[in-house]
Amino acid sequence: VREPDLAGRHVVVSAGGTREPLDPVRFLGNRSSGKQGYALARTAAARGARVTLVAANASMPDPAGVDVVPVGTAVELREAVLRAAADADAVVMAAAVADFRPATYATGKIKKKDDQEPAPITLVRNPDILAEISQTRARSGQVVVGFAAETDDVLANGRVKLKRKGCDLLVVNEVGERKTFGSEENEAVVLGADGSETPVAHGPKEALADTVWDLVARRLE
Ligand code: C5P
Repeated sequence: VREPDLAGRHVVVSAGGTREPLDPVRFLGNRSSGKQGYALARTAAARGARVTLVAANASMPDPAGVDVVPVGTAVELREAVLRAAADADAVVMAAAVADFRPATYATGKIKKKDDQEPAPITLVRNPDILAEISQTRARSGQVVVGFAAETDDVLANGRVKLKRKGCDLLVVNEVGERKTFGSEENEAVVLGADGSETPVAHGPKEALADTVWDLVARRLE
């Protein structure tokens, strides 16, 4: 059993993957299971934090003692995260947020017409929530953590992303054929804006979550 080193702290975690609707029955989505975000929420609660979990389309039971805010789209996730971040000591963006959404939403189901080519889907940019939270810092000393899945030049790309987003910590995962998404385990390097590099060996998502909270707790001291 761990020390309750996050007691008295409010932390916000986003989890899952956003779905961007095209019409009432279709959406653009991604394969994020939400498992890493849920592990972050459970471990923070176990360490004494008050936890708000903004959950995008994750089909898992609510973790005990955690305040769960369900959302669907990136725009809804932004609203919920910004609201919860107002008094948060730390914000961890583990959700896979769609970079783009369909420019228009058809209120009725889009029909196929026999002699017509399919219509192209026009996309527009979604807000970058991690960058916005990092710039805003609703509370002074607030620690902001992002996640990044990379396929190659993992560390170099991670450093560039950390700087571009302006967060304090970036958890960089190498993704590939059968890695990470939907799996019970994870392997990562946590990059710090202070130049630090913390490798986390392949293991349960709870272990990575606890390493993230160790690094967050140190920055909150
Ligand atoms: O740029 P990229 O999508 O690789 O960055 C991943 C990180 O940024 C994740 O922490 C994700 O939650 C966050 N993100 C965001 N808003 C977006 C896209 C990604 O907050 N529109």
